[in-house]
Amino acid sequence: MNSIMVTGGAGYIGSHVVQQLRERGERVVVIDNLTSGFRDAVRDAELVVGDVGDRLLVERVLTEHKVNAVLHFAAHTVVPESVRDPLKYYGNNTCNTRSLLASCAATGVRRLLFSSTAAVYGMPASGIADEDTPLQPINPYGMSKLMSETMLRDLGAAGAMDYVILRYFNVAGCDPHGRIGQSTPNATLLLKVACEHAVGKRPSLSIFGTDYDTPDGTGIRDYIHVEDLAAAHLRALDHLRADGESLTLNCGYGHGYSVREVIDAVQRVSGAALNVIEQPRRAGDPPMLIAHADRLRQRLGWEPRHDNLDFIVRTAMDWERKLAAQTSP
Ligand code: UD1
Repeated sequence: MNSIMVTGGAGYIGSHVVQQLRERGERVVVIDNLTSGFRDAVRDAELVVGDVGDRLLVERVLTEHKVNAVLHFAAHTVVPESVRDPLKYYGNNTCNTRSLLASCAATGVRRLLFSSTAAVYGMPASGIADEDTPLQPINPYGMSKLMSETMLRDLGAAGAMDYVILRYFNVAGCDPHGRIGQSTPNATLLLKVACEHAVGKRPSLSIFGTDYDTPDGTGIRDYIHVEDLAAAHLRALDHLRADGESLTLNCGYGHGYSVREVIDAVQRVSGAALNVIEQPRRAGDPPMLIAHADRLRQRLGWEPRHDNLDFIVRTAMDWERKLAAQTSP
């Protein structure tokens, strides 16, 4: 039986996808260098510790495991860090993707799912992006992902690869059964930071910008539960296995919540009164970024199961409490 290789399968999103793949009986091998992933997050699959850019290692894994599809999550994902250290992002996200694609070509792997991001759109004027919205990233993170998308599209046009590019909006929440979650240290993402504050890991929570042209003045994002996002990957894989054409798909719910609405939900769900500090806008933040997400539904028959902010927050809070219990003396 053929296997699936998951790069970055010890990370937040990759580990949730690996879990769903294993739950439906797929053979999975994970490759992760554990710079931001966690060994414990790979509960039920072989983990090869190594770098996606290590062609010898990757080609050995692809061959030995008879891999016929690759899911490529391994990447750096912190936008402000990408601004400070662009070469780190172009190296790990773009150059290593090029190396992975060369390894796939060398071993005859022709199916790939690629984790891309809403950051490829930059700041669309309407705040709503469909897949044909112009691609104008405003930070090196988004550009590093767009460059990888471009390589994939060119390979597709050359008849060398079938792919699905999944452009994630704001991924949030954790496994509802609490087995795995988001453990990323020094998190900058709103929901993670808010949950850390709610369990006492941080003294306060900042709102970056209260003067946006939005109903309550704070930024609006399209938050998608990680389990729904993972389910979209399984459908994308099935699509390629059925010889479906290459696709580029937004992954979001098609509606959004403001920073204040997210904070209210965290207070409601956690019962904690949060110490919220209003700060100036954060550089590079669009006022609103929402997916036009019809294509994902239409092309893959995907339907969200957890389109509910309180549910998203509850699963994130449960995980944060679990982490806090592990680290407290
Ligand atoms: C960004 C990227 C996204 C990437 C993610 C991970 C863009 C458009 N999106 O998402 O592709 O996957 O980072 O790094 O570049 N906020 C606060 N206080 C906080 C943190 C955030 O008010 O402590 C606000 C932000 O200003 C924003 C919203 O919350 O309005 C969401 O921010 P965040 O969770 O950091 O994600 P994005 O910046 O939307």
